[in-house]
Amino acid sequence: MNMIKCGDSRELLKELDNDLVNAIYFDPPFNSNRKYRLNTSSDLGFDDIWKENEYIELVEPMVKECARVLKKNGSFFFHISADQMMLPNMICEKYFKKVQPIFWKRSRSKNNVKTKLGACTDVIFWCAHVDKPKFNMIYQPLDSYYAANSYKNKDARGNYALGHVCYTKTQAPDPKKTPNRYYEIIHNNNTYKPKYGWRMSIEDMEKLIADDRIHFPTKKTGGNLYKKIYAHESKGKPSTDYWDDVHSIAMGAEGRKYPTQKPIKLLERIIEMSTDEGDIVLDPVAGSGTTGIAAKNLKRSYILFDKNPEAVILCKNALQGGK
Ligand SMILES: C[S@@+](CC[C@H](N)C(=O)[O-])C[C@H]1O[C@@H](n2cnc3c(N)ncnc32)[C@H](O)[C@@H]1O
Repeated sequence: MNMIKCGDSRELLKELDNDLVNAIYFDPPFNSNRKYRLNTSSDLGFDDIWKENEYIELVEPMVKECARVLKKNGSFFFHISADQMMLPNMICEKYFKKVQPIFWKRSRSKNNVKTKLGACTDVIFWCAHVDKPKFNMIYQPLDSYYAANSYKNKDARGNYALGHVCYTKTQAPDPKKTPNRYYEIIHNNNTYKPKYGWRMSIEDMEKLIADDRIHFPTKKTGGNLYKKIYAHESKGKPSTDYWDDVHSIAMGAEGRKYPTQKPIKLLERIIEMSTDEGDIVLDPVAGSGTTGIAAKNLKRSYILFDKNPEAVILCKNALQGGK
């Protein structure tokens, strides 16, 4: 199911069934009191100027409808600038059980900001009807300090860091309930039996030893065994709620088609973590269609709405050959 429609999403969303979509990315105007245009000689864009209650009257009905069409284990992402996050936070808390902020560092500090703190952070509220919605682990690049200082050991396979294979005192499993974590390893006439147990079964440990993936003690590393974590096999670090490795599309950059266009990498990360292939992703304020492009790249279906006919043309050009 792929769909692109032009209209006011407060109405269009009512046409969708309950419990239909797996993820929703919602990047409405931010209440920034600005007019956004692609550049000074273009009309392409939208106005983000609202009086009194107009802003809440724009976003709250859409969030309410999104909560209705979202599947029980689905995810809703409300994207907003950090300085405007309070109202969206309240609305998200009203319609969802779980609300977790993700902090996106979209730009570096700017030298031309002289009289205030430079704004460089957006917040993406990750919301769901349940505490544990569908989630696929995603990875971020390793911190440069960690990368430079951890992979200090080397063997024929390459550089590696040391991963723990023994529990500490506070983690130790109960020997009566899990006796299979208290075994002996004998290697080169040395016996290894950690006081608080192994983190893996003897079968898994023996496989790692046979594959030369266990680091045996040297004078430098002391008496413990470690798992070899190779630099060239690392996917990165399991993602945190602080995203500083995706950069926004700069003004005037090649490929920028819409004033507030978000990077495809940001949407791919959101879609990858919250959906599987074949799932449906909805964006009721789609702009240039970034969500649809990311969904298509990842083999998900998309539903895109926007009230700006020029934005809808961009979506159709990007996704359906202009039709
Ligand atoms: C911040 S932009 C979205 C940018 C988009 N994420 C992208 O990557 O291009 C917000 C969009 O909301 C649309 N919009 C505002 N009010 C709307 C409404 N009531 N119904 C549908 N779309 C609306 C605007 O036309 C604008 O394209």
